[in-house]
Amino acid sequence: MSIAHYDWTDYYDIVSNGLDRDVEFYTDLGLEAKGTVLDLGCGTGRISIPMALKGVEVVGVDASEKMLEKARAKADMAQVNDKITFIHDDMRTFELGRTFPLAMIPYRSFLHLLSVKEQMTALRQVRKHLTEGGLLALNVFVPTIQDLYEQDEKSSTRGIYMIPGSEDRLVVWDYTRYDHFRQVAEIIRQYERTDRDGVVVQRVVLPLHIRYIFPSELHHLLRLAGFGIVERFGDFSKKAFDSKSTELIVIAKKL
Ligand SMILES: C[S@@+](CC[C@H](N)C(=O)[O-])C[C@H]1O[C@@H](n2cnc3c(N)ncnc32)[C@H](O)[C@@H]1O
Repeated sequence: MSIAHYDWTDYYDIVSNGLDRDVEFYTDLGLEAKGTVLDLGCGTGRISIPMALKGVEVVGVDASEKMLEKARAKADMAQVNDKITFIHDDMRTFELGRTFPLAMIPYRSFLHLLSVKEQMTALRQVRKHLTEGGLLALNVFVPTIQDLYEQDEKSSTRGIYMIPGSEDRLVVWDYTRYDHFRQVAEIIRQYERTDRDGVVVQRVVLPLHIRYIFPSELHHLLRLAGFGIVERFGDFSKKAFDSKSTELIVIAKKL
């Protein structure tokens, strides 16, 4: 598992703004949970912090110390340190010795698990950390055969962003190639920072690996790991999941 990509936390925060209404969706679930929420792959606290601002206690777990460093600084700024505990750990092996009414794996972080074995190990570990009848919420994108074929071995611009507090710009490129046997996408991400004269002042090129999964696969993984699917949505305004959905949001219950 390579997560060196996440060492570049400032660039991550500029580029990774989440999906429409995902913060509100997970925060509402957190409020309904009436207990401490476990945020797995919490990153720089994009969801944990707004949730804590609404009064929810959160334990955030992430495998990247750099992401957590930034999360702690942001939580400090937002004055929610007393509501959040950030823990450096791996969702496949963590042992917190306590249970939660709700665990969540937002923003497709589950796709960083690169084999069925890793996915099952993580799901079993999550299940162990849930109260009886506790919930797991997560979201993944829905792969289409057409996209998998058309995007292979192609570069695309992910976006051009202004760097806060400067006149510099950040251009982000992704080169994607697929290993369809392992269902793994290797994304070579390039961050190119230019100053106001257009001079490149920094270029960072880092690989990022994800294992794309199909909706029925996720269903079977969850069932095998001892969960029952409670709800499936196609977006964060709770539209029903259907054949046109590009995102799969699942709420599963510990059986
Ligand atoms: C796409 S980011 C999501 C961050 C945050 N949840 C958000 O919504 O912005 C994925 C995060 O998962 C973390 N991650 C990847 N593999 C992990 C693992 N095995 N255990 C825990 N965290 C992991 C990365 O370090 C990264 O912070």
